[in-house]
Amino acid sequence: PPGARQFIPPQAGTLAELRTAAAGCRGCELHRDATQTVFGRGDESARVVFVGEQPGDLEDQHGLPFVGPAGRLLRRAVDDAGLDPAHLYITNAVKHFRHELRGRRRIHQTPDQVHIVACRPWLVAEFARLRPELVVVLGATAAKALLGPAFRVTRQRGALLPWPAAAEHPQDFTRASVDDTGTDAPAARLLATIHPSAVLRADNQEIAYRGLVDDLTVAARALT
Ligand code: URA
Ligand code: SF4
Repeated sequence: PPGARQFIPPQAGTLAELRTAAAGCRGCELHRDATQTVFGRGDESARVVFVGEQPGDLEDQHGLPFVGPAGRLLRRAVDDAGLDPAHLYITNAVKHFRHELRGRRRIHQTPDQVHIVACRPWLVAEFARLRPELVVVLGATAAKALLGPAFRVTRQRGALLPWPAAAEHPQDFTRASVDDTGTDAPAARLLATIHPSAVLRADNQEIAYRGLVDDLTVAARALT
């Protein structure tokens, strides 16, 4: 697929302008079977940005990220970890709902590397506007987008990693492209953890949930 790059306004616009442009993205085939683009949302001066996988069924219908069961669990974990929910921005690595039809049901399909790569320019553009101090990577798809295919969340979760050295294409995140306002942005860091959906699927949800909260507590401490 050609990717999202050609749909991004050439002038550094606001997040609202990006969101409007993303609504018309045809950078890969996923827009065809989805209801709408689900762009990030939250505090535009957030110090922390969460990156999930892709919108689910409910998110696709409402046009907002993390409004379903995974989002509910994530908000609870954010709260338990001591992160301020009012000062977060939440987005996804892929901005259309990839699914297959089984009868009338729409079954989630994990995005492929081609969708992650095609959609990545939106994520880069969001970071360029937000200039977060900390990026929390939720699960394998977001990790593929930002840390490359070799990264293993299960082994490397819960640790503060340097940014942008950790990124697969660090040139996209250099100060020059990220800090397009010319102000002195704090150097961002990154922390990977499991996806809240993995907690919902876990055999022992309580242990999985505690692990998520522990990782997010590391994130919360890094901000103080
Ligand atoms: N899972 C995600 O990764 N993102 C959403 O927005 C919802 C569920
Ligand atoms: Fe564009 Fe991303 Fe949607 Fe593909 S998934 S059409 S790249 S917004």
